[in-house]
Amino acid sequence: MGRTYRISVLPGDGIGREVIPEVRRVMMEVFGSSGDIDLECHEFPCGGEYFLETGREWSKEAEHFTKNKADAILLGGIGAKGPDGKIVRRPDGNLAGYSVVIGLRQELDLYANVRPVKLYEGVPTPLVSKKPNEIDMVIVRENTEGLYYPARGRVSESGRDFAYDLRMISVKGSERISRFAFELAKERNGAPVDKVKRVTCVDKSNLLAGCQLFRETFDKVGEKYRGITKDYAYVDAWTLYAVLKPEYYDVVVAPNAFGDIISDLAGALIGGLGMIPSGNIGKEKAVFEPVHGSAPDIAGTGKANPIAALLSTAMMMEWLGKRFDDLAPVNVAKQIRRAVEEVLREGKVRTPDLCQGAWSDVKPSTTKDVTSEVIRKMKG
Ligand code: NAD
Ligand code: IPM
Ligand code: MN
Repeated sequence: MGRTYRISVLPGDGIGREVIPEVRRVMMEVFGSSGDIDLECHEFPCGGEYFLETGREWSKEAEHFTKNKADAILLGGIGAKGPDGKIVRRPDGNLAGYSVVIGLRQELDLYANVRPVKLYEGVPTPLVSKKPNEIDMVIVRENTEGLYYPARGRVSESGRDFAYDLRMISVKGSERISRFAFELAKERNGAPVDKVKRVTCVDKSNLLAGCQLFRETFDKVGEKYRGITKDYAYVDAWTLYAVLKPEYYDVVVAPNAFGDIISDLAGALIGGLGMIPSGNIGKEKAVFEPVHGSAPDIAGTGKANPIAALLSTAMMMEWLGKRFDDLAPVNVAKQIRRAVEEVLREGKVRTPDLCQGAWSDVKPSTTKDVTSEVIRKMKG
């Protein structure tokens, strides 16, 4: 019997409550009795729906376990609509579930939000000329400051009523995220187009002071990485380049809000939000979650693609393996990836979001069908 890992499992809202139980089913059915890895999953309700029911975003126990006891955290999606059809908010105006999704990033200092963007074989892309091996980049989003730094409010001045979000960007924050990006590039095989190890700094430093500091710091950090090419794009232009020549990108580093926005654009290139996983990584703690939210438009219909949640779980296993110097979770990650890749490549069992383009004749399957197929491949 290997080491026991304690996982805080937070399904959250909407499709989070559909994809996370399916991930647990995969883990139970495949690893429940194998003895290679012992996952102790502690599941807690949380988020906007829980807030509507109880007036709290999560229980004290959930918060305590997640912050202090868990070896890793697996999150679904946060965000619920109330009976009036509007997003549920806390009395302070923040979205209900903020403590879980943003609070954990801030309080556990999970400074790097890592979002791999890879076009898998068997997955449709709207970029008809691009092949699977031509889109394979990682977005590294700064995750604790920028527009998400909790300095916001309202003020009346010069006869105008303003709301403001101060965009705080520090040297320390820019340094550590740049270092993270360069270290990641070291481990990767470079950009699809030319195999050059390249880190692109995506900012708006032509105008914004915070971005000027971000880029200066990126440059200083980058000087120490001789084998890695420093590259730059203003964020508005990057959205154009990403669509026209995604194969040019290897690692992309960006301040917080820009990283958020470009992630969803990148998701569109690789089959949609059901395909992008993420890890929010700090020194000793980490939260893994699909990049997508609670997707109220498809919640309860069985249409949610569980692949992003499964790939997030694989990222969690890889991180646990590195952190605790243990090969067992790394092997679990490999098994999950192999099975997911096989199911995608076969192209038969897939949720409706992937029944597009060359796969538009495939009969859509449900979330559960997809995970059952992944389980079959893992066992087979
Ligand atoms: P969303 O990511 O929930 O959905 C955007 C679009 O992508 C929708 O059309 C949805 O159907 C589709 N989509 C998302 N995940 C999918 C999946 N797994 N399979 C198939 N299609 C999928 O974003 P939204 O609709 O703008 O936001 C809904 C709520 O989620 C909001 O309350 C928002 O604040 C929240 N949100 C939370 C997180 C998070 O918890 N990390 C991330 C993004 C949005
Ligand atoms: C994400 C989400 C969150 C963010 C929301 C839910 C606050 O969009 O994880 O990308 O803006 O970071
Ligand atoms: Mn987002």
